[in-house]
Amino acid sequence: MKVTCFVLLLTLLTACVIVSAINKGDIIVQHNFDGITEQATWNKVLGPLVQLVTTERGSTALRTDRKQLDSPSTWVQITLPASTLRGCKIRIQAAVKAENISVPPNSWNGIKIMLHTKGSSGDTYPQQNLPQGTFDWRMADYVANVPLDTDQAILALGLEAVTGAVWFDDLNVTVYSKPRPHPPTPPAGQPYKGHNLTRLRGAMIGINLQEQDFRDFASWNANHVRWQLLWNGFPHSPADDGDIPAYETWLESALKHLDSMLSVCRQLGIHILVDLHTPPGGRNSENECNLFKEKRFQDAFLTLWEKIARRYKDESVIWGYDLVNEPVEGTMPDTLMDWRELAIVTVQRIRAIDSQHAIIIEAAPWGGPGALANFEPLPFEKIVYSFHMYEPGEFTHQNVYNDIPPISYPGVISGQMWNKEQLRHNLNRVLNWQRDYNVHIYVGEFSAIRWAPGDSAYAYLRDNIDIFEENGWDWAYHAFREWPGWSVEHIGDKNNTQRAPVPTDRQRLLIDWFNKNEH
Ligand SMILES: *[C@@H]1O[C@H](CO)[C@@H](O)[C@H](O)[C@H]1NC(C)=O
Ligand SMILES: *[C@@H]1O[C@H](CO)[C@@H](O)[C@H](O)[C@H]1NC(C)=O
Ligand SMILES: *[C@@H]1O[C@H](CO)[C@@H](O)[C@H](O)[C@H]1NC(C)=O
Ligand SMILES: *[C@@H]1O[C@H](CO)[C@@H](O)[C@H](O)[C@H]1NC(C)=O
Repeated sequence: MKVTCFVLLLTLLTACVIVSAINKGDIIVQHNFDGITEQATWNKVLGPLVQLVTTERGSTALRTDRKQLDSPSTWVQITLPASTLRGCKIRIQAAVKAENISVPPNSWNGIKIMLHTKGSSGDTYPQQNLPQGTFDWRMADYVANVPLDTDQAILALGLEAVTGAVWFDDLNVTVYSKPRPHPPTPPAGQPYKGHNLTRLRGAMIGINLQEQDFRDFASWNANHVRWQLLWNGFPHSPADDGDIPAYETWLESALKHLDSMLSVCRQLGIHILVDLHTPPGGRNSENECNLFKEKRFQDAFLTLWEKIARRYKDESVIWGYDLVNEPVEGTMPDTLMDWRELAIVTVQRIRAIDSQHAIIIEAAPWGGPGALANFEPLPFEKIVYSFHMYEPGEFTHQNVYNDIPPISYPGVISGQMWNKEQLRHNLNRVLNWQRDYNVHIYVGEFSAIRWAPGDSAYAYLRDNIDIFEENGWDWAYHAFREWPGWSVEHIGDKNNTQRAPVPTDRQRLLIDWFNKNEH
């Protein structure tokens, strides 16, 4: 993902003169590479590796052809008008074909149609993954968030860490959604939390915990679990097949397990958040929720929340309902509700049955702090807003999906110093957003992989929790007795898959905080 080499930097000043009031569909950048003007624009920047070529379709396209891996990447960069686009979602579309693209070393390498945003809270690199090998013309089409603090936004087209040839044509960048409106004057007083405790402090839990697990967690003094309704895996699961009856059968079995533990949790003073981790339809190959691709999944979604609300409306040990874990919309048919619209209808359906429980909302895409800072709250009371903290992902997820040298915290990560001040700066986006609306915040997940070097994972958790507590946010560590990579009961050695005989520093850190809990 690092930008270590580029062929050219094309600053499209003409494209930057955007109408001041932007609207959905506004064109930011459009290139078909045909005609004299396009040739003149691009000729300045072409070289042996990047050329304008006539394709078999008879039109001109941009081609990048790399025979050797003598540099990390070969791409052209198009500067987008960052300050105009802050807070927007933008849609990036291009026709692309490829020949002999070599196997990428990491999943994110290969053909690039990647947005790179730079801002003080950190960089983002949204892109659509494209296949290796050889393929004929196809559409790349994805939606990317432009964070509110973006100073620079660059679109890169080319090849990264692979050889082969790629053609790009009919490039369009358009506005997909506008920034959230200016907030009204927030309501006064304490925001609604949905509970009367000083704080909820606990963890996400694995999907099949038994009574003894809850007793163990209560012995640490936790007063909260985020209960994931997860069908066999994340982000992909059997739900991806789209078989709604099979989904409903699974959901009923998952709820039966929850039912069977309610009295234990009540007795232990563990307040439960019901988290729909696997929504109907699961996710597509781009990890977007199929909920935003087909109406039948939205219908099933509304029905299932009515069912859950009927089931738990009088259950006091349930704190609330987390409608979708880490929603991702991607591009959507115009006939479907987007996440905010769907959430509004879902809240109405739930409230017709259950007027009491908190409803917890995460922002799309992926529920991160930047997504929440861009989100317009729902027009209802009794809503708590949630985000997940894994930034910077290069650190927290190191050697989960890749094989890289260890990355320490605190330290310089992708060119940015990450320490407690930087975490605070990153999370101030949420704090400022919270102040705009005077709503309560819940950190539904945060973690660092246990094999981060030295005491990096401990330091990252410690600093984050300090900030959550400063801000009065409820929080759930990710995760208790779930995937061992996140377990505080396991030591830092990746190969050691047994629970440690004595509590780790990370476990003691959680326990020290849990010891402040009321139940
Ligand atoms: C980009 O927009 C132009 C003009 O609206 C359109 O002809 C073209 O098909 C679009 N490109 C893609 C990849 O959709
Ligand atoms: C792709 O590989 C095939 C087989 O080796 C070769 O004939 C072809 O010229 C290559 N294409 C490009 C663009 O290098
Ligand atoms: C919190 O306390 C208020 C006032 O006593 C009460 O009405 C409300 O039901 C309590 N909420 C919960 C979730 O227990
Ligand atoms: C973990 O196991 C792998 C493969 O067996 C080995 O190469 C590596 O050295 C081990 N790491 C440690 C820290 O023991």
